[in-house]
Formats: sequence, C-alpha cells, structure tokens
Amino acid sequence: MDDINLTDLKLFRKNLSRFMLSYKFATKEIETKINILKDEFKFIHEYNPIEHVSTRVKSPQSILNKVSKKGISPSLKEMKENIRDIAGVRITCSFIEDIYKVCDLIQSQHDISVIEIKDYIKNPKPNGYQSLHLIVQVPIFMSDRIENVYVEIQLRTIAMDFWASLEHKIYYKYNKKIPKYIGNGLKEAALQAGLLDRKMEQLNHEINILKKQDTKDDDYLTSDQIKKFLQYLSETE
Ligand code: GTP
Ligand code: MG
Repeated sequence: MDDINLTDLKLFRKNLSRFMLSYKFATKEIETKINILKDEFKFIHEYNPIEHVSTRVKSPQSILNKVSKKGISPSLKEMKENIRDIAGVRITCSFIEDIYKVCDLIQSQHDISVIEIKDYIKNPKPNGYQSLHLIVQVPIFMSDRIENVYVEIQLRTIAMDFWASLEHKIYYKYNKKIPKYIGNGLKEAALQAGLLDRKMEQLNHEINILKKQDTKDDDYLTSDQIKKFLQYLSETE
C-alpha cells in the first residue's frame, strides 16, 4: 500500500470514529435530559412516569445494511442525513398518558428540535405494533464545532415493550414469509396488550380519585380535635 492510500485510510478511520462518537454523545445527552426530567417530575408530582430508559447506537454493520437497503450513497454526509435512527433511546413509561406527558416535556426542551412524530399508539402498525416514535435533533458541543445529531426516541408502555421485544425475538432470523396464523396470533396478542394498558390506566385513575378523597378527609379536623386545639391555644395565651 502506498503512502497516499495509507493517509486516506487513516483519515477515513478517524472520520468514521468521530461519526460514531457523535451518536454516542447524542444518546448520552438525551439520556441525561430524560433522567433530569424524570427526577424533577418525581420531585414536583411525587410520581415517576418513567419505568426505564435504554440507549443503543447502531453497529457499523447495521448502518451499512440500511445504506444498501435504502440505496443511499455510502458517504458519511449522506448517512448522517438519511439514516436517522443510528442513535436510539427507548423510554418505557408506566401508563399510556405518561407517554404523551413525557413527549410534551421533550418537545418543550429548547435545545431539542422535534423533526418527526409517528404515533403508532393512535395508529398501530398493521401487525399490531404500538409505540410513539420521535425523530429529534440534539446539538453536540465538540471542541471545534457544534453538530446537530439525529436521535430516534421510542416511547412505549411495559406491555407495548413486552410485545415488541417478543415479536422481534419470534421473527428474528426467520427469513421466510411468516405464516398467516402466526401473524394473526401476534396481532391478537398486541390487542390484548392494548386492553391491558387501558385497564391498568383505568385502575390507576380510580386509585388516584380515592387518594385525593383520602387527603381531603385528612384536611378536616374532627370537632374533638378542634376543641383540643382551642383549649391548647387558650392555655398558651
Ligand atoms: P426502520 O427502517 O426499521 O427504522 O423503519 P422506519 O424508518 O419505517 O421507522 P419506524 O418508525 O416504522 O420503525 C423504527 C423502529 O421501530 C424499528 O427499528 C424498531 O425498533 C421499531 N419497530 C417498528 N416496527 C416494528 C415492529 O413491527 N415490531 C417491532 N418489534 N419493532 C418495530
Ligand atoms: Mg430503525
């Protein structure tokens, strides 16, 4: 190999590493923001809408697979613009309404630009898949420049995550067309997961009404307590 090729190769490797690093930083940035929102929400509302957060950066091999699938030219610039799920953050929420609360909180962050929202909860995929997907851009402050990096954020409930993880496992490495009855079975399971989510949400609403009632009751003093309190005041005067 001559010197020029070696120099080119070194430069390419350096650029590729920087490219991959920017996605690692972007997932960290979003993860930190989500954790701050979570802690603050917990502090103000005494309630935690987020069960857990996970992140991943697509492997260079999966990026290349997508490049060939989408027919994108394999330059870093083209990949950066056209493959918007290289950085991924998955947020599992307790209830469906929490998903929309967290989505609003993300949208209200000044340095996050929401580029696209796909609501597969209001409009599930034909196979039954449900989640709320956001494509956002977040600025990453490097030593010599600021880069706006795309991140895909998936918001789902525990039931949606359960379905999606197992559906992926069932299909994984099955390269042939899925028999219709298995597809129907999975769709049925997705509907059941949706019903479970709605049932849990309804139970949560009902317990919240009871809790509110309890605190209201706690606010009232009994006549005996009032008498004792008045007596205490008169004695301490
Ligand atoms: P991709 O090219 O796969 O990224 O799809 P897309 O650009 O059309 O985006 P979409 O929002 O539909 O899906 C992106 C991601 O959502 C996928 O990479 C999966 O993580 C998840 N997803 C979408 N559909 C399904 C599904 O049917 N089953 C499961 N398990 N996950 C899904
Ligand atoms: Mg994807």
